[in-house]
Formats: sequence, structure tokens, C-alpha cells
Amino acid sequence: MEIKISNISKLEWNGDALAIGFFTDKVQLSEALTELDHKLDNTISELIVETEFKGKLGCTTIARIGGNNSLGKIILVGLGKEEDLTVDSFRQAGGYIARVAKQAKIKTLAIAINHPDYDNDIVAQMISEGVILALHQDNRFKSDTEDQKISLETIDLLDLPASNKAIETAQKITSGVILARELVNAPANVINPVTMTETVENLAHEYGLELTILEQEDCEKLGMGSFLGVAKASDLPPKFIHLIYKPENTPKRKLAIVGKGLTFDSGGLNIKVSGSGIETMKMDMGGAAATFGAAKAIAQLKPDVEIHFISAVTENMISGKAMHPGDILTASNGKTIEVNNTDAEGRLTLADALVYADKLGVDAIVDLATLTGACIVALGNDIAGLWTTDDDLATQLKTSAQTAGEKFWQMPMENKYFDQMKSSIADMKNTGSRAGGSITAALFLQQFVKDTPWAHLDIAGPVWAEKSTAIDNEGGTGFAVRTLVNWALND
Ligand code: BES
Ligand code: MG
Ligand code: ZN
Repeated sequence: MEIKISNISKLEWNGDALAIGFFTDKVQLSEALTELDHKLDNTISELIVETEFKGKLGCTTIARIGGNNSLGKIILVGLGKEEDLTVDSFRQAGGYIARVAKQAKIKTLAIAINHPDYDNDIVAQMISEGVILALHQDNRFKSDTEDQKISLETIDLLDLPASNKAIETAQKITSGVILARELVNAPANVINPVTMTETVENLAHEYGLELTILEQEDCEKLGMGSFLGVAKASDLPPKFIHLIYKPENTPKRKLAIVGKGLTFDSGGLNIKVSGSGIETMKMDMGGAAATFGAAKAIAQLKPDVEIHFISAVTENMISGKAMHPGDILTASNGKTIEVNNTDAEGRLTLADALVYADKLGVDAIVDLATLTGACIVALGNDIAGLWTTDDDLATQLKTSAQTAGEKFWQMPMENKYFDQMKSSIADMKNTGSRAGGSITAALFLQQFVKDTPWAHLDIAGPVWAEKSTAIDNEGGTGFAVRTLVNWALND
């Protein structure tokens, strides 16, 4: 499928379908559209009346054009209220149009959407991202995909004098989002610590990135007792992945992104009971998936920033070698942890990964993790939690998330709650009470970062979609890749 900028006017364009956008309650035909409507024997105006099309965000309608017109069909898409328009509206519109076009088996499509308040390059990038992401389907594990074939061959962006670079940017970013989706969708018998490492090795090779893999012995030497405690019961070796992107020019900033990489979370000896979603716990590497997805995009976009992509990868299993509830682990910063719940394993792996990242001398660290069910209780499935004590970093991430069309909500670092994790025998326990569970998780992580500005993102909800939306399909969403890329790109 090829997306390209075209300077053909919508009056002259020939092909299977032309998509045009309208704002809610402003479904009027411009001069150019009136002319087109006449040419098309009033198909547009009649379609609007017949389907009571009001331009609501996500509403689409399609009609065949009769006569001997060289345009096959017209697609109307609602863009929502004009005053609510954001860059993400264009991304969503792209997604909705792609879905209708796919269903109607359209091969050649044109999209004519723009807005005077928005830069054409941005609009072209957003529409392209939406189209690509909506059409991505993960068919790797199906033997028969005949009925899933995508008909679309070309998409022309009309009325949008933008540069083709905008479309290339969309392709680079979405390739990262798609990698993250595929990592999350792959079950634990496909993506495990070893194959995850192989995936990153391929990535490093393809884009010329530096890569260090710390094996178990290396982690032992660094005193990563917290990470290795979690890894004990697995039959597969733990892998500590450190991928580095270095720009050609002197880096303006140095950043570290740390992702939770549990390729499966059984809960350990505090095993997840039936009904707890144990069968979905292949997604517990969603943080690592976003980290390496962002790496893939950033390696192609080449910003003047040095970025370290880190994940302590293992699975949380049960066996005679498993860590026991009550075990005391020593993390690589010397702090001791009484494991009062083996199912709070993500923070144990992140503890050593954060200590490692903190020693790199970067300007900021962001960690991402499918860390707590409590975060889903607090914010629902679509919104991730954000914790930081650094206001600048909070602003950077919120701005990045907004254009990414990804939702984050800043949560409190309520120091008092750390009292719940005080241990009589060790420096701390790994869990507090059920109430405020996502906050105590963040406070636990804070123990492993010294002075580097740091933010923690709990993405347990949005990494996975139960139903398809404008641009996401059921399954892994690749959540946070676009936010991370924007963060890396913004000065
Ligand atoms: N991986 C889970 C968190 C999770 C839950 C992610 C649901 C996605 C969906 C994490 O390791 C976990 O088990 N957390 C526990 C912490 C508790 C024991 C303090 C939880 O949330 O129940
Ligand atoms: Mg767990
Ligand atoms: Zn987990």
C-alpha cells in the first residue's frame, strides 16, 4: 500500500473512492464540494440527507456513484466539533476512513482533508499514521488469512500540499508502534527472554545501534538480586538488554527509557487465581515492547539525542527454585526488600534496571510498566498513570502524549503511603495495602533512583484493547511508542 501526496483536485481525481470530512453540525458543502456534488449527480448532498449525516467524530457513510462517473464511491467522515479539533482528530479520521475503505474493498482511495489552522505536513503525517495503524492486523498466528486481505493499493492525499517526508515520518513511527503491538500479541511461548533478545539483536543490526546484553552472571556481578530473585523459577535465562541510539552530531540530551519486560507473569508462588487474567499475562512486557518499538522509530528518525533503551527481561514462574513469599532480596543499590508478594514482581525487576539507568549519567529517565491492576481500577483501560516529582519532565511528557493521541493522567507521589511498605526485617517490603496500590508501586520504584529526573508510567490498561477503536485493533496497541518518540524529538 502506497500513500502519497497528490496535486490532482478532487474534481478531477479518478479512482475507487474519495473521502471527505465534515465538522459536527457544519455539514455544508463548500464551493468546490458543491461543484463536485453537481458533477456527481447530487450524490453527496443526497447522502447527507438520507443518512442524516451530522459529522460526528467517527461517523462514516459511503455511497456508490451512479452514471458513468470515473469516481466509484464517496465516503463521508465526521471530524467532530471544529472547536474540539486536535492533531489527533486527523489521525482518527485516517483510521475511520481506512476501515470503511477496507470493508468496501476499495483499491484506490483519495482523502481530501485539511484545515487552515494546521500545518499540512502534520495533517499528512497524522492521516497516514491513522490509516497505517487501523489497517495493521496481526495475522502471524492464523493459518488461513484469505478473508483478511487488504484491498487498498494506493491512497492519494488531496488538497494537502505537504512534503512526502511527512508520510515517511508516519511510516517510521508506525513501524515502531507495530513492532510493539507484535511483541505484546506474541504469546509467552513465542516471545520469551531469549527470543525478545533476538528481536532486539535484529533491531540493533538493522539500524546500527549499540547493544549490550547482560547475562545472568553479569547481573550477579552487578548485584542485581532483586531482578534475579524474580527470574529464579524460570527455565529460561534472564536477559538484561541495553540498546543505545547515538546521533551523528553531539547529543543535545541524553535520555533513558526503561521498560518492564515480564514475558509472562504467573504471579509466582502468590499465583494468579482464576479470574485474575493470568491468561492475558503475555502482555506483561508491554513496557519493554514500547521501549523497543520507540527505539525502532527513533533509529529511523535520527534526532540529535542519545537514548538508552533498557529492559530486565524474564518471566515470573513457579518451581522448586522459585523465590518464596517472605524472601529478602538485595538490589544493586544495596537496598534490601522483603518480598511479601511475589506477584509484585515488575517493581523488583525495574528496581535493578533503574539503578543501572541512573548510573548512565542521563538527563532524564522514564520507565514504563504494566505495573498494577490498581492503576486500571483508578484510571480505567484507556488512561495511563504518570508519576514524577519533576515538573519539567511532567510537562514534556504531557505535551508529547497530547500530539501522540495517548492519554496520561498525573498521579500523586504521596510519600506518607510509603509507610505501608516499611518492613521490620528489611529496608522495605515490595507491596503496601490494596488501597492506592499504583501509588505505592511508584513510591517503591523511587527508592532506586537517586537524583536523575525520573518519571514512571503505569500502562497496564492501555497496552491492550478489548475492542478496536479508530486506529487500534483488538489486542496489543503499541501504547506509549508515539509519546516516547515525541519526547525524544522535542527539544
Ligand atoms: N502484571 C501485573 C499487573 C497487571 C494487572 C497488568 C492486570 C495488567 C493487567 C503485576 O505484576 C501484578 O501482578 N501486580 C499486582 C500487585 C499487587 C500484588 C500488589 C496487582 O496489580 O494485583
Ligand atoms: Mg505480578
Ligand atoms: Zn507483572
